Amino acid sequence: MKIIHISAECYPIAKVGGLADVVGALPKYQNEIGAHSSVIMPFYNNKFTQSHKFTSVYEANLRLGNHELNYTILKIEDASVLDFDIFFVHVGDLLYTENVYTENDTNRFLAFQIAALDWILSLEHKPNIIHCHDHHTGLIPFMAQESYKYESLNKIPVITTIHNAQYQGWMAYDNLYKIPRFNIEKVGLIMWEGMINPLAAAIKCAWRVTTVSPSYMQELKYNANGLESLLSHENSKAIGILNGIDSDVWNPETDKYIIKNYKKATVEAGKKENKKWLCSQFNLDESKPLFAFIGRLVGEKGAELLPHALDYALRSKDISVIVLGSGSKETEQQLFDLIPRHTGNYNAFIGYDEKLSHIIYAGADFLLMPSRVEPCGLNQMYSLRYGTVPVVRRIGGLKDTVVDIGDHGFGICHDEVSVQDIVLSIHRGKEFYNHQKEFKANRKHIMSLDHSWKVSAKAYINLYKSIN
Ligand code: ADP
Ligand code: GLC
Repeated sequence: MKIIHISAECYPIAKVGGLADVVGALPKYQNEIGAHSSVIMPFYNNKFTQSHKFTSVYEANLRLGNHELNYTILKIEDASVLDFDIFFVHVGDLLYTENVYTENDTNRFLAFQIAALDWILSLEHKPNIIHCHDHHTGLIPFMAQESYKYESLNKIPVITTIHNAQYQGWMAYDNLYKIPRFNIEKVGLIMWEGMINPLAAAIKCAWRVTTVSPSYMQELKYNANGLESLLSHENSKAIGILNGIDSDVWNPETDKYIIKNYKKATVEAGKKENKKWLCSQFNLDESKPLFAFIGRLVGEKGAELLPHALDYALRSKDISVIVLGSGSKETEQQLFDLIPRHTGNYNAFIGYDEKLSHIIYAGADFLLMPSRVEPCGLNQMYSLRYGTVPVVRRIGGLKDTVVDIGDHGFGICHDEVSVQDIVLSIHRGKEFYNHQKEFKANRKHIMSLDHSWKVSAKAYINLYKSIN
């Protein structure tokens, strides 16, 4: 079975969040069970592309409204760099930006989607499945079905995975003429409240729609940022499939980023060394339980509650806390301002740092995820693999992956989006930590939970087969 994933992000080439991790892992696991899965993504001007050589496999022109644009499909010269085939769309300067997301995303992602479909149209061996990810590829299900030029593709099933329904890719109506010609009576398929809405179009036109956890799919029926009626109980083509993690990349035994590698049998010594390094680098008290937060500092992650909650929890001076993240300038500033108030027990690194994130998963005792919305969340699964106890709000994928210690589980859960619930959970964490025998046994237990892609990669293949 030949599958082409289409995405704006893919680890390790370009990553903003979990979308990259998923698209960088799922194809590999699909290939391990006999599929031929590849990825097509934009060609960005970043560290990865600057340090690899590429060859052109296809070149043509595409039309974007009144403009004729030349584009190239590139492949990495050294095929052994990645575990699956990956193709890059290079459309002049449009996609060749350092950042994945910019101010000009309407034209950028329109051109990307048209080029991707044009190229698929040119292939001698067409895919059996086109698997689109998020709104950046949301017009592909419509174009493949309705644009005259792609008529010969309309028998190929197209799947859309919603990683986050908050971002929908809204475009003004006057961009309509940039979409390759279609029967104008079908325009309702891409419109939502008077604008072009790529995510809504994808839900309407894809053969199947998946979300990245079963609970998130249920939640979207009631709150999908205005699209709930499209995902109501009558929508039988929508299902939730829980993400997995790449357990080769996220493996404390072999992780090249962390200070000391470890496995279940050596978890205490291994975590201790990583914690020691973190505490010395960030001036933290290593004798105290170390709580961490890693993530985008946005409302969905409950990040604006953190400054207040941490300020309160740190008063008793019996914990250490480290924050790694970037996002809202106000939250960044507040987290920064806390540093002098809690010298020796708190620090924050404002920015993005892949290596540091790995060391934190390895060195922390607890990982905080007070998310307001969490379609899946990968951090909690990484933390489990590294023997770090997740402290989460019961929502979306967090609800599907973390069970509270009070329910014979292994993590700490709360229900409300509130400062009080975060502080209480930190308190429960401290108490758990003080029962060292149980705490250490729990570390070993969570490291053996299997969240690898094995099960979910199969679930996607079964879904593809059901529509092929
Ligand atoms: P989302 O995609 O909503 O941001 P996920 O939990 O799915 O959330 O994935 C987040 C990914 O991004 C994880 O791999 C996490 O380690 C990483 N990440 C988030 N913020 C940072 C940061 N500031 N530095 C390094 N890695 C980060
Ligand atoms: C989105 C979601 C996150 C999910 C990730 C990968 O960014 O916010 O919860 O884990 O996609 O599917």
